[in-house]
Amino acid sequence: MTRTVTATAHPNIALVKYWGKRDIPLNLPAVPSLSLTLDGFATNTQLTWGTVADEVWLNDQPAPAKFTSKVLKFLSLMVPDRPPVVVRTWNNFPTGAGLASSASGFAALALATASAAELDLSMEQLSAFARQGSGSASRSLWGGYVRWNMGEQLDGSDSHGEQVADESHWDLRMVVGVVSEEKKAVGSTEGMERSRLTSALYRTWVDQAAADVVVGTQAVLDRDLEALGRVMESSTFKMHATMHTSQPPLQYWAPGSVACQRAIWELRERRGVSAWVTMDAGPQVKVLCKPDDAEEVALAMAPHTQATHILGPGGPAVVREG
Ligand code: PMV
Repeated sequence: MTRTVTATAHPNIALVKYWGKRDIPLNLPAVPSLSLTLDGFATNTQLTWGTVADEVWLNDQPAPAKFTSKVLKFLSLMVPDRPPVVVRTWNNFPTGAGLASSASGFAALALATASAAELDLSMEQLSAFARQGSGSASRSLWGGYVRWNMGEQLDGSDSHGEQVADESHWDLRMVVGVVSEEKKAVGSTEGMERSRLTSALYRTWVDQAAADVVVGTQAVLDRDLEALGRVMESSTFKMHATMHTSQPPLQYWAPGSVACQRAIWELRERRGVSAWVTMDAGPQVKVLCKPDDAEEVALAMAPHTQATHILGPGGPAVVREG
């Protein structure tokens, strides 16, 4: 008999960044990180358990071979003796362009799999599974503000997300400026390894991360946007400096990304708007600000972007039958 469940998860954007692995097979991070789960953007994943043959669909098309094999490998990791499945997944935002589609994707898949296979797992155990699909996915099971602890166990069982505060704690906005929808040139695992092996700044980056997470966590608890913005920008540009000093250099920015950064800093300096920049492994620029300033932030980025999205704190991943 087949069983169908659908899970929904939101992407998250790191406020204090994850870049670097201490164990690749288990996907264990070299640094802790802190994130905000976003509403508006979502991955919906429908999983039918017990079909005749494996099939994976992405946005109503047969999924590319690499995507299909990652999804099926993950399902077999969670349930080694699993039956064939059909996975249909939809993102309502660009896939693989630095907008964290792998975070929401693997969080939704982990939750759907646990539900379809009737696994009795805690949120922490689910998060540790999601982590093995994509590191940032370990943070997307929860809503609001989430810390991913590095953990100490060799098997990675204590390297999972933990909610710092839920989505109702602090109403902020993350304004996403879509500079380019081109897929990223170098994937995050390859990029992280390149940085670890070749960047002279990598050690400093790793050494400062835990303190940044402490500062960021306290800023979230205090609802102190300036303190959070400062540590977020610092973490962002330390990570990008580490990328830029890798051999060959990892340059995820596009000219429009730099134009957006400058527009936001000008808004902050000239007009006193508390708006703070972050970027990940792609050209999109994301800006943290108060709800009342979000329109002004979006307007400042508009000349340099294809689209802007104003997103607030999102809720946890959820699952339903059917
Ligand atoms: O989880 P991954 O492999 O997609 O790596 C995410 C890395 C960054 O997005 C650059 C930073 C982060 O903490 O999300």
